[in-house]
Amino acid sequence: MKILVTGGAGYIGSHTIVELIKAGHSVIITDNLCNSHKNAVARVEQITGTSVPLYAADIRDSAALSRVLDEHPADACIHFAGLKSVGESNSHPCEYYDNNISGTLNLISVLRAHNVKNIIFSSSATVYGIPEKSPVTEDCPKGICTNPYGWTKWMAEQILTDLHNADPSWNIVLLRYFNPIGAHPSGLIGENPNGIPNNLMPYITQVAVGKRECLHIFGNDYDTPDGTGVRDYIHVVDLARGHVKALEAIKRNCGVALYNLGTGKGCSVLELVKTFEAVNHVHIPYVIEPRRAGDVAVCYSDPGKAERELGWKAEYGIEEMCRDSWNWQKNNPQGY
Ligand code: NAD
Ligand code: UFG
Repeated sequence: MKILVTGGAGYIGSHTIVELIKAGHSVIITDNLCNSHKNAVARVEQITGTSVPLYAADIRDSAALSRVLDEHPADACIHFAGLKSVGESNSHPCEYYDNNISGTLNLISVLRAHNVKNIIFSSSATVYGIPEKSPVTEDCPKGICTNPYGWTKWMAEQILTDLHNADPSWNIVLLRYFNPIGAHPSGLIGENPNGIPNNLMPYITQVAVGKRECLHIFGNDYDTPDGTGVRDYIHVVDLARGHVKALEAIKRNCGVALYNLGTGKGCSVLELVKTFEAVNHVHIPYVIEPRRAGDVAVCYSDPGKAERELGWKAEYGIEEMCRDSWNWQKNNPQGY
C-alpha cells in the first residue's frame, strides 16, 4: 500500500517507516519538523536503502496537504503528527487543542476530499485516565484525563469513531500505546527530545552520556514491590510492527478497531534503572524526589486483543530496550 505518514520524522514515525518499507509498503511523509529533524528521514533512507519523500507540511495547512496527496495518491494514512508533552499541554492548552484536534480535523477533511478513508491513529494509554486496575483491557472505560494532552487523544478517538459511524466506508484503527522506549538496533535512529526530557528513558540515557548529573526518581512510596512507579515499557520497533499489522486489519475492512500496544509486563523505575546499568555497564546515579503530580502507581496493558485479532505480540524485553536506547544515545550524544 501507499501510506501517507504524518509526523513521520518523529520518534515512533521514523521507526514505523522502516518497518513499513521492510513489509513492502511505500511511504510519503508530511511533518512540520517542530519536534524532529530531517536527518531522521535521511537515516531511515540509509537503513532501508529506499528514498522517502518528506514534505515540510503542517497538518493544519489544507492546501499543502492537498498538494502532497495530489502528487502521491495514498491508500491509507498513519497519523502520528501531534504535540506530546504532558507538562507543556498544561501551560499551553490551546496550542495543544489547535495542533492535535484542529490538525486532525483538517487532515480528515483533506483525506476525505482525496477519497483516502483508511486511518491509523496514535492514541495513548493516557485515555484510560487513572486506571482502576492493571492489566488494562480495551473494554475498560475511557477515564478522566489528567492533562490537556490526554484530552486531545481522548477527543480525537471520539471524532474518528463518529466519523466511521456517519460513514462506515472509513476504516479506523486506534492504537493505544503504553510506554515506548528503545531505538532501532542499528543505532541510526532513536528518541531525540528537545531540552530536558520529561520521560524516564531519555533522562536515563542523558545521565549515562554525561549530559545530566543524576536521575530524579519521582516517589518510592507507591504500593508497588519496590515503591517506585510501574509501567509497561515497549520497544519502539515492536510498536512500529504493530502499525504494519494494523494495515492488514484495514485491508480486511475492520471498521473501527481499537488495540492496546504494550508488552503486558509491568516494570518499576528502579528495575529499569538496574537493568540499564547491568546491560550497558554504566552507572546511573539517582535521588528520590516526591511523587510527580498526576502519576499513577501502576499501569500496564493486557495486549491479548492485538495478539488475537492482529497476530501481533511484542517480542523484545527490557534488556533489549535498555541496550538499544543506550546504543542510540552513545552513538549520537547530540541527537541528529
Ligand atoms: P514526536 O514528537 O517524536 O513525533 C511527532 C511528530 O509530529 C514530530 O516529528 C513533529 O515535528 C510532528 N508534528 C507535530 N505537530 C505537527 C503538525 N501540526 N504538522 C505536521 N507535523 C507535526 O513524538 P512520538 O513519540 O513519535 O509520538 C508520535 C505520536 O504518538 C504522537 O501523536 C504522540 O502523541 C503519540 N504517543 C506517543 C507516546 C510516547 O510516549 N512517545 C505515547 C503515546 C502516544
Ligand atoms: N519518572 C521518574 N523520573 C523521571 C521521569 C519519569 O521517576 O525523570 C517515572 C515516573 O514517575 C513514572 C515512570 O518514570 O513512574 C514513567 O514516566 P514517563 O514520564 O516516562 O511516562 P508516563 O507513564 O508518565 O507517561 C508516558 C507519556 C504519556 C503517555 C503514557 C502512556 O509521557 O504521554 O506514557 O503511553 F500517555
